Amino acid sequence: MSFRDDKQVLIFDTTLRDGEQALPSSLSVKQKLQIALCLEQLGVDIIEAGFPISSPGDFEAVKTIGQHIKNSVVCGLSRCVDKDITAVAEALKDVTDHYRIHTFIATSDIHVQDKLRKNFDDIVEMAVKSVKLARSYTDDVEFSCEDAGRTPIDHLCRMVECAIDAGATTVNIPDTVGYTLPHEFGGIIETLFNRVPNIDKARISVHCHNDLGMATANSVTALQHGARQIECAVNGLGERAGNCSLEEVAMIIKTRSQYLDGLYTNIVAENIARASQVVAGICNEPVPPHKAIVGSNAFAHSSGIHQDGVLKNRNTYEIITPESVGFKENNLHMTARSGRHMIKACLDKLGYKEGTYDLNEIYQRFLKLADKKGQVFDYDLEALLFFSNTEEEDTQFTLDSMNVVSGGKQVIPTASVKLKIGKRTRIESGTGNGPVDAVFNCITRLTGIRCELINYVITAKGAGMNAQGQVDVDVKYNDRKYHGKGLSTDVIEASALALIHACNSIYRAQIIEQEKKEGKETN
Ligand code: KIV
Ligand code: ZN
Repeated sequence: MSFRDDKQVLIFDTTLRDGEQALPSSLSVKQKLQIALCLEQLGVDIIEAGFPISSPGDFEAVKTIGQHIKNSVVCGLSRCVDKDITAVAEALKDVTDHYRIHTFIATSDIHVQDKLRKNFDDIVEMAVKSVKLARSYTDDVEFSCEDAGRTPIDHLCRMVECAIDAGATTVNIPDTVGYTLPHEFGGIIETLFNRVPNIDKARISVHCHNDLGMATANSVTALQHGARQIECAVNGLGERAGNCSLEEVAMIIKTRSQYLDGLYTNIVAENIARASQVVAGICNEPVPPHKAIVGSNAFAHSSGIHQDGVLKNRNTYEIITPESVGFKENNLHMTARSGRHMIKACLDKLGYKEGTYDLNEIYQRFLKLADKKGQVFDYDLEALLFFSNTEEEDTQFTLDSMNVVSGGKQVIPTASVKLKIGKRTRIESGTGNGPVDAVFNCITRLTGIRCELINYVITAKGAGMNAQGQVDVDVKYNDRKYHGKGLSTDVIEASALALIHACNSIYRAQIIEQEKKEGKETN
């Protein structure tokens, strides 16, 4: 049986690579692991965990994810460059039995000539060499022809044939710039099946971007022409207008399987809503209300005629139910007032059986976290299971106390901030053009981290008088972006917590960088 006759469509999730690449600031190792665990529960076949050569943090994340994920294949991205491929192998070879190396190079004329400044023969040679090197590390190698959608078809056929000959087990055809129309993209896949003699030896995958809103349509059309892997991301996160959205393809295949020749995926549809919420929360990328499958309006019926129809028979206006993708009425909030029972119920729901963790210990740590954060989400609870420390890894800076004076034109905003720094406590006072600025000036002096504030957003979390202020900051430090979040009933304190959170991430990134350097020097 060739891959084309197989009815299973593999879901390759790239939320942590293409998706993360598009965020204003990078995620921490812990945040990436939390998303990976959620993807595993969602039934994703392959998790593209990152691009190990791109930064020490990404290397660490791919390695940590490889250590924890058991039911999905973990994959790392590399250019067709030896050191990139070796970095993926280094991150994964000792932590998991089966991993994938994904190596790519551009094949369209514009990329080959203007970006890579090479000729097509050189590109084929680089691809072949890289696939062979990757195969020397693992039997699971994916090769991607970047910008395949705009690659002359003769070149594409030649490249696919050579990559398969060199040992690629999956060949990916990306519409990198989201340019093609469905029938055009389907035609490319059809032509590959008709013209590439060894095509049956590899699984054909597609990776469609959404620049013209065609990513999902193009991906599904590719399946009708023989592709059997879709690369996608939760909530459609990804470069520019995003990637094909995982929940859309999964639900199209499930809902219209009959029309699609009996195709199926391993996705557990009931876990879709949770995955969407976890990714939106951790990445700080809210889901638009009208987003298909996971938007808050996706199952809302507004007009009187629609409401009347739904009351008589839901099928009049609902082709899938909210329950089928895991939306449930859930008014239970986990706070410091929640009991053990609630925590156990939540862990049960997440699939963790009692006996695999110590409820008393988790509960005590939950209380500490709840005191700090206000509301605790299910992914926070999951993090408690996987990390021995309730707080972020290696928290260097912790807010001890703060005092702010501001108000009206006559008062110069002034702050004093006391921080725990490692084992010591230090205090600084200062002024600013507003109370938040005064606090930020103190934190900058205390941490010694001079980062540039590039985004500051404040949102009310919760309802009415009990709402808390959540502050999200994006900062830039040494050309990298970092995100920080703070939650408090006092918005100035929430601002301080957000900046301190970002400073802790910067501090950790510096430590990892330093350890890598020292490691290299001793090797
Ligand atoms: O869009 C693209 O072409 C990519 C490749 C690395 C697969 O993300
Ligand atoms: Zn992409």
